[in-house]
Amino acid sequence: MEAFASKIPSEVEAFRVEMLGKKGLITLLMEEFKTVPSEQKREFGQRLNALKSRALERVAELKELSDGVAGEATPLSRDATRPGTTQPLGSRHPISIVMNRIIATFARLGYVIAEGPEIEDDYHVFGALNFPPEHPARDMQDTFFIQRDPDILLRTHTSSNQVRAMETQQPPIRVVCPGRVFRNEAISYRAHCIFHQVEGLYVDEGVSFADMKQSILYFAKEFFGEGATIRMRPSYFPFTEPSAEVDVSCNLCGGKGCNVCKGTGWLEIMGCGMVDPNVLRNCGIDPERYSGFAFGMGVERIAMLLYGVKDLRLYFENDVRFLSQFQSAL
Ligand code: PHE
Repeated sequence: MEAFASKIPSEVEAFRVEMLGKKGLITLLMEEFKTVPSEQKREFGQRLNALKSRALERVAELKELSDGVAGEATPLSRDATRPGTTQPLGSRHPISIVMNRIIATFARLGYVIAEGPEIEDDYHVFGALNFPPEHPARDMQDTFFIQRDPDILLRTHTSSNQVRAMETQQPPIRVVCPGRVFRNEAISYRAHCIFHQVEGLYVDEGVSFADMKQSILYFAKEFFGEGATIRMRPSYFPFTEPSAEVDVSCNLCGGKGCNVCKGTGWLEIMGCGMVDPNVLRNCGIDPERYSGFAFGMGVERIAMLLYGVKDLRLYFENDVRFLSQFQSAL
């Protein structure tokens, strides 16, 4: 009885007839009841009644499930001239669209994806990346620790994947590390405790700062349009030396100054720098022979700049009215 599970109305009806119809199995058994020796009548009767009520129940269940399902018995569904019903199609989340575009842009320069765990250890997120033990980024304020164990934490950046890539490969290494990262920050229109990054790393013989600048300029032009230009400002990261902050010319006002770029004509898009020799050494790569550059950007931030979205929280609320505005082939 349970084995029969069709939702097609005509099949459910056929099942009902087969069990409970005039010549149905259960109806025939009811008739047989008369011929059963009287000492067996009690048990036979009880079982037969149970079977009948289960059959009635099952038919009712299946009828309910089949309600609204088009089957051959529904005459309307045989009308080949009826317009089809359109299935609402979902669209990719804007963060995925932007992330895929960033990855595709670097893929054209030969970068491959390197992924890693979201729950990490101190060494891969900080230690190997030259963070001194007392560095404030390890502080409880920024990092989510797991079960009060100071060694197990949620990664605060995907640079940990770069460490893993360098530990397991020898140069040339060209990787992009997309993924979710976690920081203990107050949620506001411009910050969230969960966000996405794409970081990148290139290590080989003779990789220079000029190579880095050219690669990032290529990315900016691919992403924000041929007219985009970049500038670099000195910055500091424990794992790169020298380090820089990259600005792209504001794509909304064309550099003239508007409220998105706060009148400066420039938008900050990423951090970058030449991989510190200590980091290469920590990961088993000879810094005398190889050099490299790394960069990292926040996907929500790039998506905000690209789409002119002013509140980052919209990306996390999953309001279909917001999400359905984004369409992409990627
Ligand atoms: N890991 C840095 C961050 O999360 C970004 C970065 C990556 C900077 C690589 C320089 C080089 O902020």
